[in-house]
Amino acid sequence: MEPRSVRYSQSTLTELMIPAYANFGGKIHGGILLSLIDKVAYTCASRHAGAYCVTVSVDGVDFLQPVEVGDLVSLHASVNYVGRTSLVIGIRVIAENVRNRTQRHTNTSYVTMVAKGDNDKPTVVPELLLENEDDARRFLEAIKRRELREKYKDAFDNAITRLDVQHNLGQLTGHRCVVGWKRKED
Ligand SMILES: CC(C)(COP(=O)(O)OP(=O)(O)OC[C@H]1O[C@@H](n2cnc3c(N)ncnc32)[C@H](O)[C@@H]1OP(=O)(O)O)[C@@H](O)C(=O)NCCC(=O)NCCS
Repeated sequence: MEPRSVRYSQSTLTELMIPAYANFGGKIHGGILLSLIDKVAYTCASRHAGAYCVTVSVDGVDFLQPVEVGDLVSLHASVNYVGRTSLVIGIRVIAENVRNRTQRHTNTSYVTMVAKGDNDKPTVVPELLLENEDDARRFLEAIKRRELREKYKDAFDNAITRLDVQHNLGQLTGHRCVVGWKRKED
């Protein structure tokens, strides 16, 4: 299988934000943007893999700025990293107000997808041809992100499985909740 460059599968999806996409406050629903992120990630991943792909996880979905009805939203997707059967697609979301010609970077998300073969099993994807330092930086960042995610997941899982509710109830003090059941020592 020949390596494929980042350029080979780079994809952009531009969509007009119509009133049907808005919430009661007049801003665009986060779910609409998530759906567009998933679509452009699929486009980019399946082009690189030459196969059907499925979404495994989405990282970094922080909506930093609201998107308005009438904005043109462009989602720029490129392969940041490939494993054996998985790919990480980086997606930069830009909202453009065509009347005052301003552009806002609303978020950058990272979608992990897995390529599937005809038997519906994960299938090997081509290696990524890194053509410049930016391509290499994104690949290295994805490795770091994956390492930190695994470390964080292990630490979180350990903390959760060891969490004794009775002994930790004191930590709720100062938080905006009320213990509404009768405790054993009460
Ligand atoms: C994705 C899926 C095929 C992985 O199955 P699996 O039995 O874990 O398969 P494997 O162990 O062979 O892993 C396949 C790849 O997925 C990666 N992977 C699995 N779980 C992952 C996770 N939570 N986050 C990131 N990558 C993950 C593995 O690291 C591996 O990557 P690599 O081949 O590049 O090393 C399976 O979980 C699946 O089908 N999920 C449903 C996906 C779907 O339907 N999405 C649409 C949303 S409804």
